[in-house]
Amino acid sequence: MSHNPVELRNVDFFYTANDPAPGVPPAVGLEAAEGVTQVFSDLTLGLPAGVISLVGQNGSGKSTLLLLAGARLFPAQGTVTLLGIDTREFLNAAEDPELEERRNELVSFVYQNMEFETEEPIGELMEFVYENGFHRDKNGSFLQELRGTLELEHLLSKRTQQLSKGELQRAIVAFSMLYGSHIIMMDEPVFALEDYQKHRVFEMLVDFAARTGTSIYYSVHELELTRKYSDYMALFHGQGMVEVGRTEDLYSKEKIEEAYQVPMDLLYKKEGLYRESLLKLSRQKP
Ligand SMILES: Nc1ncnc2c1ncn2[C@@H]1O[C@H](COP(=O)(O)OP(=O)(O)OP(=O)(O)O)[C@@H](O)[C@H]1O
Ligand SMILES: [Mg+2]
Repeated sequence: MSHNPVELRNVDFFYTANDPAPGVPPAVGLEAAEGVTQVFSDLTLGLPAGVISLVGQNGSGKSTLLLLAGARLFPAQGTVTLLGIDTREFLNAAEDPELEERRNELVSFVYQNMEFETEEPIGELMEFVYENGFHRDKNGSFLQELRGTLELEHLLSKRTQQLSKGELQRAIVAFSMLYGSHIIMMDEPVFALEDYQKHRVFEMLVDFAARTGTSIYYSVHELELTRKYSDYMALFHGQGMVEVGRTEDLYSKEKIEEAYQVPMDLLYKKEGLYRESLLKLSRQKP
């Protein structure tokens, strides 16, 4: 019996050329073949409790690992366990609302490409999510605190599709905390925010994690955020190699330059460029 909320054992994972969208389980047990992108091969690791930051180059597998650990994708071989439960139990969650809810109680997911339209204004949605979510102790001051810290007060009457990218991202971060899953996976949750807001959001997430015992796993491209706001790091070295350790041990110039294969100062420049490209992409949605 292990104490890590997420355990991967001997996991193989690959995308095939005609995969359904992420979140829809790929066929289990396919052999590697033409048109196949192998992301992980015989990967064994544990993701500890607490706040964990996933960092590494584009395409190194951060989103894929979050999706596997969040029971949104499933391994071709090997097992992923989530609080002791084999994620294969949730293979059919997309077609079974009860199963989906059980999965979401364990783990919720903030997707990298935010696509999210609603009928109701976000103020009502926040209340609804909080009332119907899984928190055991609920109090109105938490809602108020979120509205304030995430600067949502003036947006409460708007629907998600009427928000800017940054505003939507702040609303989604609020929903994810209000829902009350044991674990929250967040894929690039702050890329559209101003710098001061990124720090504010992460301060809040770290405090929330400690206060509620929620584990938060996030991917991020700003190493400064990783350094300041994570207990553990999962450092992606490419070719499906992932190193997990305490941030204070793993966060070093040598390790990071090895993983990214570029000098540290260049990396800081790249982060800015990457953020711009994500914003451009997300503006292109219909
Ligand atoms: N739906 C898909 N179909 C085919 N290949 C995919 C799919 N999604 C990701 N891949 C490939 O899997 C590998 C890992 O991708 P992943 O999205 O997990 O990387 P990442 O570390 O999250 O990258 P980024 O920093 O750009 O978000 C990459 O080689 C990518 O091209
Ligand atoms: Mg990604």
